[in-house]
Amino acid sequence: MVRELAESPPEAIAKHMSLEDMPAPDPASLGPRDVIVKIASAQVGWVDLLMTSGQYQHLPKPPYCPGLEYAGEVAWVGAEVTKVLLGDRVLVDGFLAGPRSLGGYQAYGGFATYGVAPEEAVLRIPGALSFDQACNLLGNYETAYHCLVTRGKLQAGETVLVHGASGATGLAAVHVAKLLGAKVIATGRSEAKLAVVKEEGADHVINTRGEGDATLRSFKEEVKSLTGGHGVDVIYDGVGGDISVESLRCVKFGARFLIVGWAATPFVAKGKGQRGAPNANQLPTNLLMMKGLDVLGCPTVISTVMHPELRPPRLAQVLAWAEDGKVRPHVSHTFTLTQFQAAMQAKWSGEVVGGCVIHPGGKKGSADA
Ligand SMILES: NC(=O)c1ccc[n+]([C@@H]2O[C@H](COP(=O)([O-])OP(=O)(O)OC[C@H]3O[C@@H](n4cnc5c(N)ncnc54)[C@H](OP(=O)(O)O)[C@@H]3O)[C@@H](O)[C@H]2O)c1
Repeated sequence: MVRELAESPPEAIAKHMSLEDMPAPDPASLGPRDVIVKIASAQVGWVDLLMTSGQYQHLPKPPYCPGLEYAGEVAWVGAEVTKVLLGDRVLVDGFLAGPRSLGGYQAYGGFATYGVAPEEAVLRIPGALSFDQACNLLGNYETAYHCLVTRGKLQAGETVLVHGASGATGLAAVHVAKLLGAKVIATGRSEAKLAVVKEEGADHVINTRGEGDATLRSFKEEVKSLTGGHGVDVIYDGVGGDISVESLRCVKFGARFLIVGWAATPFVAKGKGQRGAPNANQLPTNLLMMKGLDVLGCPTVISTVMHPELRPPRLAQVLAWAEDGKVRPHVSHTFTLTQFQAAMQAKWSGEVVGGCVIHPGGKKGSADA
């Protein structure tokens, strides 16, 4: 439970969150189209870190239960529910229920034994996905789709440079780009994490960690040599800061630069007009101009609110990929609910590759065992 908002994720994790006993949801107080889900797996997302520390543009009023996306078994259905049955394995759509949603289901986050969601937010788990994979599906893969397909118009045969590729959305972008038939050059700062990214399908990986005090080393020549001297067609930038500027030096004329996030400068979007670091991410207009670049902001949720028609084809494609076994989110870390602080700290300190999951049922291993 988050009772108060802190200034930073480490402060929020250490001081402002606690595990509290709560009564199970009472069916007598729920509507005929409500569903109670016994939660098996809840994703620990970057947005959970931002939200619990007041850094996100959309904030539930404390006290609230974090956990934007979760999966589990249907434990109760209202009298008018027709889509799912008791015992069905389901995931809950974080756009329509949980802390990122609007309205009455905002209080039911995934870091709990039970969640309540409206029928339209409860989807049968596609294909052979585990609970751990299912709670890492929609937000990450819909983001990758929105950025690469809707905004980036990535084509088969093109080359995309993915920054933050070991992250939850970054690794989804690697998977989606490969499904689209593109060549992927993935960046990161850890050899061990990049080895996983390569196993997950990246064609090339580049460690951008600098030596000594330098946080970044130049990678433009490496990217140029991997692209026959031409540079990349698309940049997927979930990191921001210095890496963005270096990227502009190894792109083709007319390339698309996708602004996805700011993992390197997490305090830029404090929400409600309180900008934390207004100068953190600046792009040089001379490079944008002379290389004829398209710079595209890619806020998935905001774009979907502004243009609701974007979602149905995107959701259908992500679910179809999962149903066919073409998309299988990678989860490197799992924790019990009592370890929620360690789980959030692992996500904050960058130990995770792909998904980080909490098992409210208590098992540290697979929630599907
Ligand atoms: N556009 C959208 O709609 C949308 C949706 C969801 C998330 N986001 C944003 O996208 C970003 C990534 O989200 P995520 O869920 O993938 O986060 P994540 O799982 O924490 O991954 C971020 C990755 O970025 C790299 N990174 C972190 N700090 C860095 C630094 N200081 N310098 C260089 N690289 C750093 C890390 O990889 P290495 O340690 O390997 O370098 C890490 O794996 C966040 O800013 C998030 O808010 C945007």
